[in-house]
Order: sequence, then C-alpha cells, then structure tokens
Amino acid sequence: MDSRGRFRILAMIMTICSMTAFAAGRHWVVGFSQFGSEGDWRTAETISIQTAFLDDPSFTLIYSEAQRKQENQIKAIRAFISRKVDAILITPLVETDYGPVLQEAKKVGIPVLMIDRDVALDDQALRMTFMGSDFVMEGEKAGSWLAGYLKKMNMDDGTKTIDIAEISGTADSPPSIERGKGFRKISDIHPNWKITQSQPGNFDSDEGKQVAAAFLKEDKNIQVLFAHNDQMALGAAQAVKEAGLRPGKDVIIIGMDGIEEAFEAMVAGDLNCTVECSPLIGARAVQALRDLRSGKKLPPRIWANDGVFDQSNAAAALPIRQY
Ligand code: AHR
Repeated sequence: MDSRGRFRILAMIMTICSMTAFAAGRHWVVGFSQFGSEGDWRTAETISIQTAFLDDPSFTLIYSEAQRKQENQIKAIRAFISRKVDAILITPLVETDYGPVLQEAKKVGIPVLMIDRDVALDDQALRMTFMGSDFVMEGEKAGSWLAGYLKKMNMDDGTKTIDIAEISGTADSPPSIERGKGFRKISDIHPNWKITQSQPGNFDSDEGKQVAAAFLKEDKNIQVLFAHNDQMALGAAQAVKEAGLRPGKDVIIIGMDGIEEAFEAMVAGDLNCTVECSPLIGARAVQALRDLRSGKKLPPRIWANDGVFDQSNAAAALPIRQY
C-alpha cells in the first residue's frame, strides 16, 4: 500500500476513534489543582500529568497552580466545581482542611482523585482514590540504607552514639509526616542513633541549606543529615561545604525523590543516597479516569514503585533517569 493509502486508513481510524469518544458523550473536562512548583520533582509531576492528558483527546485538562497556598487551592477546586467539570485531580499541600470542599464536590457528584499526597483519614471517604508512593516505606528505606551503610563502613558498633539531624518537609504535609515516621521505625531499633535536631525546610533547596547550616553550628558531631527531599539534601550539601566539611564523607547525606541533580551529586560524591519517589504519574492518572468513565470501580489506593540509589549504582542509572 502506498503512503497515501496508509494515511487514508489512519485518518479513518482516528475519525472513528474520536467519533466513538464524543458520540457517547465521553469527552471529559478534568480540573487539576497543583499546590505549587517548589522544585524539579513537582515540575516533573506537572509535566507528566499535562503530557498524558495531551495524549488523549477525549479529555480536556484545566490546570491551576496554587502557589503553595492552601486557600488558593481550595478556591481553584471551588472554581472547578462551579464549572461542573467531570472529575478533579488534587495534589494537596497539607493533609488537613480539605473536608468541606471535598464534601461540596461529592454533593454534586464530581469524583475527586488525590495525586501523590492524600488527605487525612477523616476525609478519605470523600475521594475516589489516592495514587502515589508509600511515604512511610520511603522513610523506612532511608533508615535501612543508613543501617547497611554504617555497618559496611564499620562506623556503627551499636554502642557509640550516631548523631542524626533531620530536615523535614512542609509541616503537616503527608510526605513529611510519613517519611519521618518511617525513618523512626528504623532508628528506634538502633538505640545508639540519636535524632538530635529536626526542623522543616519546606522541601526547598535554600531553606534546606539554611536549616543544615544552623544544625551544623549547633552540633559539631552531626554524622548524618536526613532530608525529606533531594532539593533540601542538595542545599544541605552546600551548607556542609561552607562549614569546611566534606559532604558525603564527613557528613552522610540522604535525600528522597531521585531527581537527576541528586544522581549527579551522588556521582560527584556529595550525596550518599536518594530514595526514589516517582512523579511520573500522568499515564496512570489518565488510565484511572478512563476506567472511571467506563463505569469501573477504582481501587482506593494505587501504588507507585520506587527504588533506592546510592553512590554504588548512581552512575549507571543517571543516563536513564527521566526527571
Ligand atoms: O509529595 C511528594 C513530595 O513533595 C516530594 O518528595 C517533594 O519533592 C515534593 O515537594
């Protein structure tokens, strides 16, 4: 068949596909409320979702970014409800105070899907599903990696105190609460590990750097900086350098997310470990909405698969990182 014939068949298939999508009233308008754009991870998540919707013309995505303010986000969700969208995706800034607006969506029958972060237990019956990573497990993975590393380096005899300082994320946000919880599950079984300081760095690189600098001033014996994301871990590495110490050697630094810059820092020896938390959630979000639209029941929880990377495997993984 010549190229004209192939083109004609392709055009026919595309017309039939879009006719079936539209004729059955199956075109959906979806509102996506992203709370902010504090770093590379969140940008990657936003792009993943926007691209996945662009790939499926049976959906129109309306995007709104709340500049890290919960009140802006709630306003945006209310605007989606007024526009009578077919579904709403939300990445909540914190886990509390979304109950009333979720009630409003439920009352008019608009399904809500939580993306990457969930709301507090009391409000979970108001959303269809939550898709994202297991933050408690991520904290546990960070703790287990540390236990293995200290053992391998002969740095932990089980009695000598290991001083650990924690740079947490945004207060009241699920990744911050749950990563802290997961890490403590492991630190609690090592009685000589002491979390000597813990302060929020809001998942932001500059704030992470400031918090780490203050920690290092306060405690000269810090051996480990555990940051709730890579952006803060990278800021902390800078603070360690400015304090005249070697990040990755004099101070062990652990981050979370698996952003490309963290891999580069591991290859350079400045970061020790990152626990992956994939933001590439777009295709699955679109699939969940297709399922919902065709009448399928969504599972209450859709998990992401995450790995652990350190200086032993960072160089091999770097060329194939997608964010
Ligand atoms: O909710 C996921 C977390 O939020 C990511 O670890 C972090 O980078 C982001 O701010």
